[in-house]
Amino acid sequence: MVLYAEPATERGRRGAGASVCRRIVARVRVRQDGRVISPAPHELPDGVTVTELRDLAVRLATAAGTLVREGRPERVEVAATKSSEVDPVTVMDRASEDLLREMIAAERPDDAILGEEGDDVPGTSGLTWVLDPIDGTVNYLYGVASWAVSVAVVAGPPEPASWTVLAGCVHSVADGRTWSAGLGEGATRDGAPVHVGAPASLSTSLVGTGFGYDAGRRREQAAVLARVLPEIRDIRRLGSAAIDLCLLADGSLDLYYERGLNPWDMAAGVVVATEAGAVVTGLRGGPAGNAMTVAGPAGLVEQLARILEEVDADGAGGVDHG
Ligand code: IPD
Ligand code: CA
Repeated sequence: MVLYAEPATERGRRGAGASVCRRIVARVRVRQDGRVISPAPHELPDGVTVTELRDLAVRLATAAGTLVREGRPERVEVAATKSSEVDPVTVMDRASEDLLREMIAAERPDDAILGEEGDDVPGTSGLTWVLDPIDGTVNYLYGVASWAVSVAVVAGPPEPASWTVLAGCVHSVADGRTWSAGLGEGATRDGAPVHVGAPASLSTSLVGTGFGYDAGRRREQAAVLARVLPEIRDIRRLGSAAIDLCLLADGSLDLYYERGLNPWDMAAGVVVATEAGAVVTGLRGGPAGNAMTVAGPAGLVEQLARILEEVDADGAGGVDHG
């Protein structure tokens, strides 16, 4: 369980006026047992600033959002399915990712790319763009207005246990809301600063979550939900992890947890949430990631994580959910 997390950049230490950020120091995490986990610092390439990367993330996400909105046919068809028959991909998921990849290749040809719909592109700069061309594809398919383009740039290996998310943007296309954040710069929605809420208690907290595409996994997630639901105000399953994390960041949700997130589902939302003051963690002192992501204000995250640990919500302890 992470009790404290503090973003630290050279820029942050020098004060808000300094613009060039050379050495990015990843978050220091303090576990319940007092052990301090301090990941290796990552380097920013020469002449690159977090602000520029954030601006580019916003431009990428909004350009792809416009493409997907304008290209949405009256009746959206499933182009293919992925992990199961209920895990769809549409023509516009692919078109959106193609556009993001073209723009990145034009503007930052030395960066790597990890995207939901395409092959990994290696890079030489140490930075990787992590792309979800449509997060909430099922909503897009059905015309439910909760889907987003999610774009983040990370330093270090592009996986949640060891990356440092430098900047990200989540553009909720149907309603035009745009959240963005840069490491050490804070988070905004449509340009205005956002902060996590201060819910009074777990029992009055509105909690977002999501479910995987595999029936067996969903059976387990339903058992976890049965344990969580009586402890909270209510649950919301909105269908886009990226938007869930941003709603948490601006206080529209009090807490969020989900098992099974991929790097592209969470990268941009994580930097928005943490820069808005949230703790984002896994269970038992581990980092957030595929096994479990819990996010919210520190004290309540701790309480929710305890319940999730008790029912082995990340599957690490081998509890039979029946
Ligand atoms: C999904 C959404 C959903 C979450 C799933 C994700 P996709 O992404 O974020 O909210 O519950 O875990 O896979 O498939 O729409 O890109
Ligand atoms: Ca996704």
